[in-house]
Amino acid sequence: MDRPNTGADVDQEEAVRRALEKYYRDGKPPWDTGVTPPELVALVEGRGEGQGEGHGALPPGRALELGCGTGTNAIYLARHGWEVVAVDLVDRAIEQAREKADAAGVAVRLLHGDATRLDELDAPGPYDLFFDLSCYCGIPPHRRDAYAAGLTRRAAPGALLLMFVYGPGTLGDTFAGVTADEMRARFAGWELIDVTPGTNPFPTFWFTLRAGEA
Ligand SMILES: C[S@@+](CC[C@H](N)C(=O)[O-])C[C@H]1O[C@@H](n2cnc3c(N)ncnc32)[C@H](O)[C@@H]1O
Repeated sequence: MDRPNTGADVDQEEAVRRALEKYYRDGKPPWDTGVTPPELVALVEGRGEGQGEGHGALPPGRALELGCGTGTNAIYLARHGWEVVAVDLVDRAIEQAREKADAAGVAVRLLHGDATRLDELDAPGPYDLFFDLSCYCGIPPHRRDAYAAGLTRRAAPGALLLMFVYGPGTLGDTFAGVTADEMRARFAGWELIDVTPGTNPFPTFWFTLRAGEA
């Protein structure tokens, strides 16, 4: 549940936002590789290991990407038949994503906004797939329940959430990091069906969660 923000909470959100905006203002952020991760390819195209049981291609449906950056993976999903909505906190990232989607000739609905305040955006869902490539792990802890609730309200029965995260202590003082135990506790009504360590020299993880069928 959302709790009233303290002054320190507001300061933390502002610090995160300013840090992210600076990355995009300064040029190409270090994460903006333009490469779709094999973990998403495996889920969408049905190749490789991971994501719990079953390695067949996921039938295209509706997808919501949280923290889409310049849109590499939203465009990838659209190219594979998905109806995609993608959200990012930084307007410059969304502008670049629009340019890339136009150049690629694919339709992606790109929204400038906060993944923890989805009710303020035109993104009602339901969605069959949520994708988050290191957005949640940078969200201040006091906004994480709101993030989980927003996805839960928009999840189609059995929807999947594929998320890449940095572990605690790996992102400096501004960004908090995340653990598997936290995911289990925070995403009530979802099942954590796969945890695959990332290939980085510090703790990173790919989490796959499945929403309940009710
Ligand atoms: C590490 S970057 C990764 C971007 C993109 N997923 C990629 O891999 O290229 C994290 C992204 O999440 C966005 N972000 C962080 N907090 C957010 C929030 N509360 N709502 C929406 N986007 C957010 C940032 O602006 C940034 O673009």
